Amino acid sequence: MESSLPDLEAILLVGGRGTRLHPLTLGTPKPLLPTAGVPFLAHQLARARAAGVRRIVFATSYKAAMFEPVFGDGAELGLSLEYMTEETPLGTGGAIRNAAQALGSGPSDPVLVLNGDVLSGHDIGEQVRLHLARRAAVTLHLTEVEDPARFGCVPTDDDGRVTAFLEKTPNPVTNRINAGCYVFTRSVIDQIPRDEVVSVERETFPGLIESGQPVLGYATRTYWLDVGTPAAFVQGSRDLVLGRLESPALPGPTGEFLALPGSSVSPEAKVRDGTSVCAGATVDAGATVSGSVLCEGAVVEGGAVVTDSVLGRGARVRTGAVVSDAVLGDGAVVGPGNELRAGVRVWPGVELPERSIRYSSDA
Ligand code: GDD
Ligand code: MG
Repeated sequence: MESSLPDLEAILLVGGRGTRLHPLTLGTPKPLLPTAGVPFLAHQLARARAAGVRRIVFATSYKAAMFEPVFGDGAELGLSLEYMTEETPLGTGGAIRNAAQALGSGPSDPVLVLNGDVLSGHDIGEQVRLHLARRAAVTLHLTEVEDPARFGCVPTDDDGRVTAFLEKTPNPVTNRINAGCYVFTRSVIDQIPRDEVVSVERETFPGLIESGQPVLGYATRTYWLDVGTPAAFVQGSRDLVLGRLESPALPGPTGEFLALPGSSVSPEAKVRDGTSVCAGATVDAGATVSGSVLCEGAVVEGGAVVTDSVLGRGARVRTGAVVSDAVLGDGAVVGPGNELRAGVRVWPGVELPERSIRYSSDA
């Protein structure tokens, strides 16, 4: 399969600010957040490599300097990696155009473009082959979701041709959405204006469709998730640990939980439902941790209960505290007796003191 896609190049869009993941993304860009024990992008890079991609250009902007120290020249991953940075964010289209300067592909070659926050089980090779067979200008991977208004809504005709591209429309006409993985014919990228802010979703795709260029949809029902919100981020990590999506980048076998070397998980703790425990993180005896991500150095003390949450680096949940559907920034401390639920976010370094209720006996 790989031999049919020789020298396929890709552009990875990783310049977004990840604001919906605050406070986690204040210090670390979204694509580098630990997901099933490794930086999120490691899963995308490994899947692209398995599909035959050999060279990837990172389109960086927000915290641009943090990527290269993590992935280097890509040799360890069997990839050749380049980094192209926008001085000011150029939007998705401007970023693709800017990164394309580092491509070696010729005008008629296919180039893969990936949003840097998507977990997808679809067959990239098949998408590329469809693109080539139909001589498309762009071929978009499409998936179906329950809430299409949060995404790019993409209706197609019976022949799989995209008839409109409606980014975040309040009135979606179909549940089929843009899944954030494109095959572009290189010459089409070169038509995007250079050094300008351009959105592929709001300008490039609608423009191509309007002018009658062949824009195709490649629709699948395979595993798909955009990890851009705290709940989705936790779900993605959990799904990888539980083996719901295969990833060559997983640092250990799948199972109830993943504990990285250098972490400490007491045999008397209950750790389950796809939890991952990064190096230096600790789960004490008597603690219960389900479906959560514990970043480096995070601590859950005995008697604490943590569910479907992210604990930033060095964050601590003290004895008897309950943290559910919540995000703790780096170094945050939740004192005994506190209950945090349903979307609560604690900013880095904030300490919530012990809460105790004293009932007076003669009240
Ligand atoms: N280099 C660079 N520069 N990258 C950017 C910029 C920029 O100015 N703006 C966004 N990105 C990157 C983000 O880092 C992310 O990887 C990707 O582009 C998409 O941005 P998001 O902010 O995650 O967009 P979204 O999730 O709201 O919507 C997009 O993805 C959906 C699927 O997950 C759109 O493409 C939708 O149409 C799509 O349905
Ligand atoms: Mg996104």
